[in-house]
Amino acid sequence: MANRTIKIATIGGGMFGRDVVLRSLADFERCGIIPYLGTAGLDHHARELAGVDYKLVAIGVRHEKTGRALVEDYRKWCPSGTPKAYWGETPWIDILEKEKPDVLFVATPDSLHTPPVVAALDRGVHVVVEKPLALFLDEARTIVRKADKGGLIVGTDMHKRYDAFLRSALVDVVPQIGDLLYARAVLEEPLEVSTKIFKWAATSNPFSYVGVHWTDLLGYYLNIKPVSLHAVGQKKLLVNWRDERNPNGINTFDSLQVNIQYDNGMNITYVNAWVNPDDFEGNVNQEMEVVGSLGRVFVDQQDRGLRCCITGQGTRTKNPHFQAEVPRAAASKDDTACIGYCRDALTAGLEAASRVILGLADRQGLKGTYPDADSSVPLVAIVEAAERVAKANLAYLNAGKGAPVTARFDKEFNVEIIDPAAG
Ligand SMILES: NC(=O)c1ccc[n+]([C@@H]2O[C@H](COP(=O)([O-])OP(=O)(O)OC[C@H]3O[C@@H](n4cnc5c(N)ncnc54)[C@H](O)[C@@H]3O)[C@@H](O)[C@H]2O)c1
Repeated sequence: MANRTIKIATIGGGMFGRDVVLRSLADFERCGIIPYLGTAGLDHHARELAGVDYKLVAIGVRHEKTGRALVEDYRKWCPSGTPKAYWGETPWIDILEKEKPDVLFVATPDSLHTPPVVAALDRGVHVVVEKPLALFLDEARTIVRKADKGGLIVGTDMHKRYDAFLRSALVDVVPQIGDLLYARAVLEEPLEVSTKIFKWAATSNPFSYVGVHWTDLLGYYLNIKPVSLHAVGQKKLLVNWRDERNPNGINTFDSLQVNIQYDNGMNITYVNAWVNPDDFEGNVNQEMEVVGSLGRVFVDQQDRGLRCCITGQGTRTKNPHFQAEVPRAAASKDDTACIGYCRDALTAGLEAASRVILGLADRQGLKGTYPDADSSVPLVAIVEAAERVAKANLAYLNAGKGAPVTARFDKEFNVEIIDPAAG
């Protein structure tokens, strides 16, 4: 059992950065990591990490007011916490230089993952980063190369790998349904996300934002690699959106349908959007179906069983498997433990970093035991290809020329755009 304090810092404190990442870090600091290892499949390492303390030293965001408010929030979850707030355009630089964390968590907008991740790796700091790892293949490769060179962990927050329903579908059922033929995976987010919560929707798209969860899940459990891709998307609502913050609209896709051919013969369609109306019964619309020669398996988030109807709120479904606050025994009613698969990938990334820091393992030996950056390289290739193909096809569609563009991947996941209509 190792005795040591591991210093952590985090960048970004928005919807996910605060409610899931910061919330989880508070529990790691308060209780250590071992209460959370089981659902991430890491309970066999519990004794080795029982003596490890975690200390959040800094929270970095854009604005001072948010930074200070986040420190207060953190102290409600972890009363002994003493993180310092940093703010500005590149707060991670001061944090890395002055606070010298061992591990940096990154929950900045999709287009702003690479700069803090690279800055951390250049200083020998391990990283746990939100999905997608990056939006461009060359950035993903740079990250993996630097992590390899420094022997550093870069974990990504691919929590669907730990969702008990999806894991069971893929691990327990899929091996019984014969040769895999095709699949469909849907994740549609509320309009509030693209119009109100995110200031950065125009720098990403709904497939990069959430489709990457499915490409990770299916790629990881089925061990499949993409060989080609077709994508189309629609720009109707958000480009014409007008409000105080977006007087000229939000120039991104409302929705995308990405069809990928894999090396095992499977064809998978990913359907993603971020324009789901408030009135929809679930927080998100989420479903997956895998079809084989001897059967099929279907998971629909709305079928998990908790459905309620409250006056003025309509009928709603909830998913406490993702995140729930559990009252701590004999504590005040506001003192709760956060549970759910929302934190399992963060746990796995921090656990891997902890083992390297303590000299219990090395980066090479830990590959595959957490959602590592290496496994994100094909996902980033897919994200980059989907955006390029969908944009090109939209231009052709608007010109009345169909949607002829596709992409092909080689064995290293290099992207070749195939445009038969190009002069
Ligand atoms: N794992 C998941 O299921 C999941 C769910 C939602 C979001 N995410 C990801 O988490 C990331 C953040 O999402 P969010 O929902 O918290 O977004 P958000 O828009 O609510 O918050 C963004 C945060 O980034 C900070 N930020 C922006 N520019 C910055 C800068 N230059 N320096 C420091 N901080 C800066 C803002 O201050 C804010 O706190 C995104 O990559 C998103 O895709 C993951």
